[in-house]
Amino acid sequence: MRIYRAKDYEEMSRRAAGIVSAQIIMKPDCVLGLATGSTPVGLYKQLIEWYRNGDLDFSGVRTVNLDEYKGISRENDPAGNTHLPDGMEPDSEKECRRYEELIRSMGSVDLQLLGIGHNGHIGFNEPSDVFDKQVHCVNLTQSTIEANKRFFASAEDVPKQAYTMGIQTIMRSKKILIMANGEGKADIVRDS
Ligand code: F6R
Repeated sequence: MRIYRAKDYEEMSRRAAGIVSAQIIMKPDCVLGLATGSTPVGLYKQLIEWYRNGDLDFSGVRTVNLDEYKGISRENDPAGNTHLPDGMEPDSEKECRRYEELIRSMGSVDLQLLGIGHNGHIGFNEPSDVFDKQVHCVNLTQSTIEANKRFFASAEDVPKQAYTMGIQTIMRSKKILIMANGEGKADIVRDS
């Protein structure tokens, strides 16, 4: 494991974007595992800038998202190379099986991006002694609903369930880049 320390959010985002772009340059048809949340926003902005300047080519890249709320529909139809759990599929078992198989059919994820929750959650895998290994449907804990209500109009609007890659799905990735920033994450970074 390699630990990079950055002086602030901008530097962290630039360095992380540098690692992602190195992956794309080394393997233009790579599979990237993408995370949401606020942490990787700066990284994505930097990648967009490099793309707009013509320095980065995503045409061969395929992506799989770490997780998705159940009950949330896509705002945009993603392009053919971008994949995420179908939040509108009501049959959890069917959707988990479909998404796990899809990830497997793409071969290994070359680089998986991850954030980390204040309590240490990864994707929507809450801290535990036992983990669901594969893509599964999670009942969100009250603390996760509270933490994520900032992305919704109110806590009541936060879906109660989500689809997430399991720990084994994530650990099959060839490389993992986990990012954490801000004082609020200091304890969990120290304890991890
Ligand atoms: C991301 C995800 C979550 C976040 C975590 C941290 O797809 O599923 O695990 O990485 O909640 O969120 P932020 O980055 O908003 O602090």
